Amino acid sequence: MKELPLAEVYRLIEPGPVVLLTTRSKRGRANVMAMSWHMMVQIAPPTIACIVSSGDFSLFALRQTRECVIAVPPVGLADKVVKVGNCSGRDTDKFATAWLTPLPAERVSAPLVAECFANLECRVVDTRMANRYNLFVLEVLKAWIDPAQPKPKTIHHVGNGAFTVDGEVIHFESRIP
Ligand SMILES: Cc1cc2nc3c(=O)[nH]c(=O)nc-3n(C[C@H](O)[C@H](O)[C@H](O)COP(=O)(O)O)c2cc1C
Repeated sequence: MKELPLAEVYRLIEPGPVVLLTTRSKRGRANVMAMSWHMMVQIAPPTIACIVSSGDFSLFALRQTRECVIAVPPVGLADKVVKVGNCSGRDTDKFATAWLTPLPAERVSAPLVAECFANLECRVVDTRMANRYNLFVLEVLKAWIDPAQPKPKTIHHVGNGAFTVDGEVIHFESRIP
């Protein structure tokens, strides 16, 4: 075994897929960022933990409204995912650039993303670890899937702008849902 720098540990454990997180501030401005640090914490109701860093403009609207949408992009959207992950809503209206198309959600003010194959309307249900880790726990209130994208492949961030794409599916007997 060779020592792995601690700074590279996240590359092994980082879950996928890379998703988009949309928000809408109370002033009405919608925003979108890329997010790969997230995990399921409960199946029912579907509950997801995620990290939204202090430097992200999205954090302001997330804290203010306690609402967001998690949109899951197919691999074909990878260049746009990287674009919205490399600029800030502070100085760029990312939806106005026409990289992505916002659609109205039903339960939250943040928009769905039309090009994504799944959209999850979420509300923040726990912020106890937000100050320390920027960790927000979200409950999914409504979920949407695009029937026109039946078998989408997703992208998974492995660090430094590199991504893996879903490969073949293998099946085993499993009691895990
Ligand atoms: C592939 C990728 C994954 C990212 N994952 C996260 C993440 O999990 N959490 C986070 O706070 N920022 C993450 N970022 C960075 C934000 O998307 C980036 O800081 C973005 O500019 C924030 O936009 P905003 O200032 O409009 O909120 C990621 C960026 C990329 C390209």
